[in-house]
Amino acid sequence: MSNYHLQNFADYLESYKKSIDSPEEFWADIATNHFIWQKKWDQVLNWDFKKPEINWFIGAKLNITENCIDRHLAENGKKTAILFEPNDPSESSQSITYEELAIRVNQVAKVLRAKGIEKGDRVCIYLPMIPELAISVLACARIGAIHSVVFAGFSAMALASRINDSSCKMVITSDGSFRGTKIVDLKGIVDEALTHTPSVQSVLVVKRTGSEIGWVAKRDFWLHTLIETASASCLPAIMDAEDPLFILYTSGSTGQPKGMVHTTAGYMVYTAYTFKNVFQYQGNDIFWCTADIGWITGHSYGVYGPLLNGATTVMFEGIPSHPDYSRFWQIIDKHKVTQFYTAPTAIRALAKEDLSYVLPYHLKSLKVLGTVGEPINDEAWYWYNDHIGKGNCPIVDTWWQTETGGILISPLPGITETIPTYATLPLPGVQPVLMNEQGEEIKEIQADGRLCLKFPWPSIARTIWGNHERYRETYFSTFNNLYFTGDGALRDQNGNYRITGRVDDIIIVSGHNLGTAPIEDAVNEHPLVAESAIVGFPHAVKGFALYGFITLKDENANQEALFNEINQFITNQIGAIAKLDKMQFTSGLPKTRSGKIMRRILLKIACNELDSLGDITTLLNPEVVEEIIQNRLT
Ligand code: PRX
Repeated sequence: MSNYHLQNFADYLESYKKSIDSPEEFWADIATNHFIWQKKWDQVLNWDFKKPEINWFIGAKLNITENCIDRHLAENGKKTAILFEPNDPSESSQSITYEELAIRVNQVAKVLRAKGIEKGDRVCIYLPMIPELAISVLACARIGAIHSVVFAGFSAMALASRINDSSCKMVITSDGSFRGTKIVDLKGIVDEALTHTPSVQSVLVVKRTGSEIGWVAKRDFWLHTLIETASASCLPAIMDAEDPLFILYTSGSTGQPKGMVHTTAGYMVYTAYTFKNVFQYQGNDIFWCTADIGWITGHSYGVYGPLLNGATTVMFEGIPSHPDYSRFWQIIDKHKVTQFYTAPTAIRALAKEDLSYVLPYHLKSLKVLGTVGEPINDEAWYWYNDHIGKGNCPIVDTWWQTETGGILISPLPGITETIPTYATLPLPGVQPVLMNEQGEEIKEIQADGRLCLKFPWPSIARTIWGNHERYRETYFSTFNNLYFTGDGALRDQNGNYRITGRVDDIIIVSGHNLGTAPIEDAVNEHPLVAESAIVGFPHAVKGFALYGFITLKDENANQEALFNEINQFITNQIGAIAKLDKMQFTSGLPKTRSGKIMRRILLKIACNELDSLGDITTLLNPEVVEEIIQNRLT
């Protein structure tokens, strides 16, 4: 049996057992046989969840881009690595072969070096879904610079705070981006952000939209001009296994977003292995992950996982509704996509539209469908299964997180059972446990609890950039000696897991993690707002949407105008993804006698669960609850 490729249920069981009984041997075997190492490790694993400290493949030397690119050149140089599908269907798609990718990555790597970027420097990438985004990511990795990709839907302020948090020396952006019928002025957003970012010395600009843009001499450079004279070969920097590969920001329940740090070797081994198995990737497959590279899914299964396996990965610039709701299905037929990986929110949005958008497409090339990012409801699961998979494609409901680097719980298509709404079984190397609120492990098989992991897997994030104590506090302090995911889960009698959702103050809106505290801060910035509390309520397409309870300094203010103004504040501070769907203006917020806002009660009201409000008589201001219920928005 090959440890790397699980081909049947017996393989899965055997690998799983080995990964638990002898994890070091298990991962060393996979790492040895499928990657190029400049030097092998001295020790496979050293870990301590209490400190916390986790190191994999200690002492090994490598460069991940040799494994993503150079390794494939001899046999597969002419194979398409990236298949780019533009926003506008009348513009031709582009196939970038592994040979071309090597040249383009090396050229950008040379440009980065020429602009003073050295190993360990942070480079912020703020680009639309165009090939230069993947190329920039790989170019950073080539020279050992740490990439920090910021999703190009974030506002100038959100971008600036991420740049400052990790003191990025450079920003790579474009003159603009095409999204449906809109052109977004990305360079303008960068210019605004950079008025607050002293660490940035240079900006590389990719030409995409041809829009007129502002220009700062000696700071801004067109990438295509610099590339003209850049050499097509660039020796890879030799990295330690535990050197940071990238930082990716994710929302926290409170405070600033957390810059999750992923390191080189463990991330490489785990994303390659899970890509191969969860999607059962075969040599001629065309893999499409719709996630933007600004999110972890795009990093691990849009770029690194596929390229590490020498696969063809589709990169789509546009949105599913442009020019109409058939765009995804049209692209699948056009490129004969074999594995399609998307988010439940996209499925729900498309399922809501007329079936006539789907019916003209054969979708015969598809073998495996995937979902990620939030729980998938029954209805969406069956729609996906029946109308897209035509009942022939297993759906892999993959559970994981920015922090986990790769998929931890998922069916293996054709190998393990799929169950609607269940992520099902842990992958080899993954040891989930369910904990009760008293901090004890629930030993019964059938259970409902807080999902934790009791052993490290190779791609676990190693720290939060600049704040190791926050990393410890967030993930390792709730339960003794365990990594706490922040999710609740059910386990059935066969050991299958169903993720029930966040148990903290993070709300997943359209697949995007949002912390309530920073949104409340943005709302409170409005001069007429006295106080606010934000909760999530179930939404047919977004999964959850945001409901704000807001008290005003002037109760006679124009509430309709405020709705737009407050949402504009949120858009400016964070981005449009964090806008509120509902705002209820109220004379007060329910508080404990010590003055703490009772979000739990507001959550019940927003979710219309009035029977389970609990005892409100001990509140400081119980009368306000009655008022809020009376005026609640349904
Ligand atoms: O609550 C879980 C949910 O998304 C959270 C992680 O979000 P993020 O770091 O943005 O990464 C998303 C992409 C990996 C998790 O804590 N989540 C992710 N996948 C699933 C899920 N919830 C249910 N089912 C899933 N398959």
